[in-house]
Amino acid sequence: MARASFSFPPARKLLNWYHRHRRHLPWRSPPGEAADPYRVWLSEIMLQQTVVATVKPYYAKFLAAYPTVQDLAKASVEEVCALWAGLGYYARARNLHKCALAVSARGDFPKRIEELRALPGVGPYTANAVGAIAFGLPVLPVDGNVERVAARLFAIEEPLPGSKKRIAQAAARLMEDQAAQAAPGDFAQALFDLGATVCTPKSPDCLACPWRGHCRARAEGVAESLPVKARKAARPRREGVAYVLLDGQDNVLLLRRPPRGLLGGMLVLPEEPPVAARWREAGRVEHVFTHFSLSLAVWVARVAVLPAGVLSAPAQDAPVPSVMRKALDAGCGALNHAGNGKRSA
Ligand code: ADE
Repeated sequence: MARASFSFPPARKLLNWYHRHRRHLPWRSPPGEAADPYRVWLSEIMLQQTVVATVKPYYAKFLAAYPTVQDLAKASVEEVCALWAGLGYYARARNLHKCALAVSARGDFPKRIEELRALPGVGPYTANAVGAIAFGLPVLPVDGNVERVAARLFAIEEPLPGSKKRIAQAAARLMEDQAAQAAPGDFAQALFDLGATVCTPKSPDCLACPWRGHCRARAEGVAESLPVKARKAARPRREGVAYVLLDGQDNVLLLRRPPRGLLGGMLVLPEEPPVAARWREAGRVEHVFTHFSLSLAVWVARVAVLPAGVLSAPAQDAPVPSVMRKALDAGCGALNHAGNGKRSA
């Protein structure tokens, strides 16, 4: 049987769909209007590896604390890391601050793709997102949503990650349409929304898709199976220990990690007992990182006062990464349970 012939997916159809169905997100400007590059950049950094619902409260916190890129540049990196705590991939927080310093030093965000690419923490994806959404440059940021839409439209069956380049090239062709070039920001965000709400990884809602008549995967009945992903190696499991040392006011002793590597620059619980005390077991907590899962044995002790000169924070709202939040909660819970906790009012 001859393969059905397809007309190329027209940008206009997607843009019309977007005008009716676009998600209202706090960093978005009204359709057709250029957005504030600072807001676009901040949201795009936060959205990498993270879903929209998780990002929203962090975005609001950051914008309230730092209304402009200059305000962010003036903050200390420790303060930025504290505000970022819980959002993960902490190199992003350190690069965010570095980038704010660079942008602030040159006055504002550059408007050329090559200069955007040269900023700390800004890769091809982020440069294209800021370029298209804030500056109307005719470029396409290719994230997982856009990859999935393109792999399906053009029925690319070669598995990821090997097919990354081929899929990106296919996606870039979508941008050749005049209507896309006239509204690159809307076009990019329309693709994000299509991928997030219609062309979803599981059970895509093809009947709601403005490009349903232009999609090879749909015609071949393979939309849901694309893109194919090569099987990943199983995550190794590592074990560790975390010590929760509290004082009489429920302040917890913390350490700052060295700037590079896992949880770099963040406040964490010590991996060895920081003082001799009556340490008791508080169970284990589990946390999944990208490349391994971690099982932490938690120990807890209370002393009247913490040693002089250490870092500390109120246990309830210490700005620590999620894995440390779990350990801290386990420690506090065990202490309260044992009846040796803080006397409740
Ligand atoms: N994912 C990444 N960037 C996005 C954006 N600007 N809008 C919605 N989802 C996104």
